Amino acid sequence: MALYTDTVMDYFVNPRNVGEIENPDGVGEVGNAKCGDIMKMYLKIEDNVINDVKFETFGCGSAIASSSMATEMIKGKTVEEALAITNKQVVNELGGLPAHKLHCSVLAEESIKAAIKDYYDKNGIEYDKNLFAETDCVKSDSYV
Ligand code: FES
Repeated sequence: MALYTDTVMDYFVNPRNVGEIENPDGVGEVGNAKCGDIMKMYLKIEDNVINDVKFETFGCGSAIASSSMATEMIKGKTVEEALAITNKQVVNELGGLPAHKLHCSVLAEESIKAAIKDYYDKNGIEYDKNLFAETDCVKSDSYV
């Protein structure tokens, strides 16, 4: 079996929602200290709905595919629905990732969470801090 699914290759070669949003309502940047890859997520939010989302990923193909898929999964969703998305769901939508690449999808989940946390912070919205316990720091080797 090929290492990467056709979906992974498609989202890597033709990534959706790449770029930057000017004046975003929330921005989240996370990185993996071990591989050095960095992912940045920009959100436009209106009436609690994610109207637009773009990403920049400086990293491997799996990270690009994961972040691109994640943007499609959260576009048009409420902030709470986006917060509930896990890296496992991203991996499922991609049709799977090799085990040593699973941490790339974790960056996608965490960059969304970091961007939503930024949105909450900027707007003075109260939230349960436990929701973001993992996103305050750069991720290290725990997912490699
Ligand atoms: Fe580290 Fe993909 S994000 S190798």
